[in-house]
Amino acid sequence: MVRTLSGYIGKYKTASVLSVLFVLGEAAMDILLPFVMAKLIDQGISSGDLGAVCRYGALMFLCAVFALIFGIGGGRCASRASSGFASNLRDAMYVSIQNFSFSNIDKYSTAGLITRLTTDVTNVQNAYQMIIRMTMRSPAMLILALCMTISISPRLSLIFLAAALFLGCVLTYVLTHATKAFSRVFVKYDDLNARVQENVTGIRVVKSFVREEYEIGRFQKSLDEIYQLFVRAETFVCTNFPIMMITVYTCIIAISWNGAHEIVAGRLTTGELTSLFTYTMNILISLMFLSMAFVMISMSVASGRRIAEVLNEIPSIRRPDDPVFEVPDGSVDFCHVRFSYGKRRTPVDWDDPEAVRKYHQKQKLKEDVRQGRISQKEAEKLDPDIMGTGWEKKYVLTGIDLHIRSGETIGIIGGTGSSKSSLVSLIPRLYDASDGEVRVGGRDVREYDLKTLRDAVGMVLQKNTLFSGTIYDNLRWGNEHATAEECREACRLACADEFIRSFPEGYETWLEQGGTNVSGGQRQRICIARALLKKPKILILDDSTSAVDTATDAAIRKAFRESIPDTTKFIISQRISGVKDADRILVLDEGRISGFGTHEELLETNEIYRSVAAVQSEGAGDFDQTAGRRD
Ligand SMILES: Nc1ncnc2c1ncn2[C@@H]1O[C@H](COP(=O)(O)OP(=O)(O)OP(=O)(O)O)[C@@H](O)[C@H]1O
Ligand SMILES: [Mg+2]
Repeated sequence: MVRTLSGYIGKYKTASVLSVLFVLGEAAMDILLPFVMAKLIDQGISSGDLGAVCRYGALMFLCAVFALIFGIGGGRCASRASSGFASNLRDAMYVSIQNFSFSNIDKYSTAGLITRLTTDVTNVQNAYQMIIRMTMRSPAMLILALCMTISISPRLSLIFLAAALFLGCVLTYVLTHATKAFSRVFVKYDDLNARVQENVTGIRVVKSFVREEYEIGRFQKSLDEIYQLFVRAETFVCTNFPIMMITVYTCIIAISWNGAHEIVAGRLTTGELTSLFTYTMNILISLMFLSMAFVMISMSVASGRRIAEVLNEIPSIRRPDDPVFEVPDGSVDFCHVRFSYGKRRTPVDWDDPEAVRKYHQKQKLKEDVRQGRISQKEAEKLDPDIMGTGWEKKYVLTGIDLHIRSGETIGIIGGTGSSKSSLVSLIPRLYDASDGEVRVGGRDVREYDLKTLRDAVGMVLQKNTLFSGTIYDNLRWGNEHATAEECREACRLACADEFIRSFPEGYETWLEQGGTNVSGGQRQRICIARALLKKPKILILDDSTSAVDTATDAAIRKAFRESIPDTTKFIISQRISGVKDADRILVLDEGRISGFGTHEELLETNEIYRSVAAVQSEGAGDFDQTAGRRD
């Protein structure tokens, strides 16, 4: 983890090094001060030498000024270095997330990713600042103060040594236990954020079902869990401070007692005893800061791990070494395809040493792949589950063999969960088939450059999103150079032009996040137009007209037939009317092909198709024979 994260300090290395140097300079001045003060007492005040008092007094003033300059310089450099480091981490995580494939995304929750990008990075930023300031300053002070006490009185310095050893053991104990406890806290933070996100995005549903009380209860339960875990973690941490104080006061008493004897015996001067007390305070402060830094570090270890996980995540969609940059036509072939979604990420059980060992081993391997020390194939040989997906044996698609000519219109129909969306998601490589081959334009999709392939496949996802911006902005996601006329033409095909023009601001109408200020059917039509602007060779509409009335749905299909005859079209629908005029219709049943043919052929040969057509011709029911529209 440290190796992964430290790579992102980048151009802030100089600020970090400068900060350390300043801090060390400041520590040296702090140590020098009591030493000069002892000289001032012994050679100036005790012997009544005014010249010595002035000389040492001026030296003390100079030391104080330098300490101040070093202190300010150190502080400024440390904050520059830590803020820069945090911004590099956020940037790198964001880039990494953008490169995630769908199956990578499936492994993380949205809320989890947000916590990692915000709270976790802030924790690491604070810890980094602590590391370059306190963990450099405090040990330096500690060592220098110990050296000074040894030079003043080797006998008395044994007291410090014993105390430092004892505290070292206490800190190690606290650190190991607190880190474990904090790891659990952050997992719960993800849950809490997930609750908030789910609640806020679904607030309309929550209100319409009057589920506020229930939601508040769930939220409080999450809060309660975090509270318990924090109390547990802090219990370890808070033992730290009293133990340290007791140790230091014991030190002061022991030094006072033994120091008095040493003075009587003539082995120590008053000035030296005074400086010994100052060094005791120095050591006390160093230890205090050190323990605080350790607490922060222990908190940030958990955060650092979570950040490293995202940074080391290997995109499961591999780019080909020698990619093809042209898709010749829109033909699609599925050859003996089987497909299974990967497993979700299971949280690590930090109490199980074997699980922790495996976790670290996997992270190290991923880091090696990312930094090019080992190829992904070699890593997969060492750990077949390196992608963390661990193929489950539950295949959602089996025995898929289909050959679709360029320009054909294919209707896909099947019950809920019959894998219609899964099937089409293999065409633009949103997921890779587990077995077999998916071909576009006669070539395996894995041979294409990803951008080339996805540009050739226009897909309107079942759960589609619009982004905040004008309608034009949203449409130009399909083609950033599209002219206003091209945008309007695409909207005419998708039957969206008419309603957009009826808005007071027309195509300049501002869409809210997620497109919440347009109706479900309007949103779907804008999404279709956006996909059309790509001028794709293959167009996939995944239940994209479910919220559009039947007449408009038919008009959209007619426009497609007439205006883009060469584009291969896949139309997923719950309604027989949505697919019946397709060239061929695919009937899916629990991930298998149940029938493939024209409307008339299927009516004759396919039992499922026939019964659904019968139910729907009676005027109600979708494929699952449940009435009503789906959005
Ligand atoms: N991201 C995912 N991770 C794991 N399993 C998934 C994922 N998406 C879908 N599934 C599972 O795959 C199966 C097929 O889902 P799919 O979405 O392809 O069905 P569908 O035919 O499109 O259904 P619908 O008509 O409701 O859209 C289901 O059993 C579903 O639970
Ligand atoms: Mg679906």
